[in-house]
Amino acid sequence: MSTGLSDGYGRVATDLRVSLTDRCNLRCSYCMPAEGLDWLPGEDVLTDDEVVRLVTIGVERLGIREVRFTGGEPLLRRGLPDIVRRTAALAPRPEVSITSNGLGLKHTAAALAEAGLDRVNISLDTVRPETFAAITRRDRLEDVLAGLRAAYDAGLRPVKVNAVLLRGVNDDQAAELLTWCLEHDYDLRFIEQMPLDAQHDWSRTAMVTAEEILDALEQSFVLTPAHTPRGSAPAELFHVDGGPQTVGVIASVTRPFCGDCDRVRLTADGQVRNCLFAREESDLRAALRAGAADDELAQRWRFAMHGKRPGHGIDDETFLQPTRPMSAIGG
Ligand code: GTP
Ligand code: 5AD
Ligand code: SF4
Repeated sequence: MSTGLSDGYGRVATDLRVSLTDRCNLRCSYCMPAEGLDWLPGEDVLTDDEVVRLVTIGVERLGIREVRFTGGEPLLRRGLPDIVRRTAALAPRPEVSITSNGLGLKHTAAALAEAGLDRVNISLDTVRPETFAAITRRDRLEDVLAGLRAAYDAGLRPVKVNAVLLRGVNDDQAAELLTWCLEHDYDLRFIEQMPLDAQHDWSRTAMVTAEEILDALEQSFVLTPAHTPRGSAPAELFHVDGGPQTVGVIASVTRPFCGDCDRVRLTADGQVRNCLFAREESDLRAALRAGAADDELAQRWRFAMHGKRPGHGIDDETFLQPTRPMSAIGG
């Protein structure tokens, strides 16, 4: 009998996050510099068939039950609808989702839903055009809002919104963003910024903490912990003004949830990462292109889980930021 993706701490990965490209059409200041990054050369990036082959091995042999396509920006990948369709056709059918900045989603949401996409999580840090342009260095707020609406109308629900607060930039806008999301029936989650930016500018003191975010929201709303089982979900949920609507905080830094982690990642160039903060990767692309059979690829993937560390260690003196930035891991 084949076994799944277990690590040395009793955790089993069932949630696969696949980065389809390291490129992005925004330039969020907390993610990458204004000039962008040295993107992966095209020949290093897995083809659509290679992606689907590895996802199939994950689902059919390794117990993967959820597949999330990320980037960079996954909508920049022309083959996305086809990759979604082939992933949703696997048995047992995995849940299929994307994490996206929403640009262009107004044109593709309906087709993606038809191809079998179940859900979308969209990054949106502000609903003010000038703040949006200051953070993303692009004047594209209207496009993102139209993408959110199209996803909702296509039935890709719940539509989740991810927001990162930056001190002195948008940290005074938490309540405004929540009011807007509640009006539109989007599930907002605030994320603590993690040390994964390409510029290595992150600092613990500049980071807006979950406690600060909740304190700010409580000036305008009554929040009560939602006692639904959290499982391995990164977000802690709170009912807003008695519910049923919720707001979430993803407190990766101040309240880590690594002990319940069920995630494994595949980069656009075919490397398995057993953690966002992994220092080592396992090269499935080289094995695949050298002609490895599915069995061997599955075995390499299982082996890649053995070195998974118990936590991210951000607060440890020995902490080292991974060389691969967030935009090339996929969040
Ligand atoms: P669902 O809860 O399934 O909707 O997805 P998600 O919230 O896990 O995914 P999403 O891509 O929207 O990520 C939201 C934030 O959570 C991002 O900042 C991710 O980097 C962060 N995140 C996702 N997975 C992990 C993880 O394994 N560890 C940590 N520390 N953060 C994670
Ligand atoms: N820390 C936390 N979240 C981040 N994101 C991008 N960079 C960081 C970071 N350094 C968010 C994006 C997106 C999700 C994948 O991660 O805003 O919503
Ligand atoms: Fe692009 Fe996401 Fe990075 Fe913003 S955070 S630049 S949307 S990859």
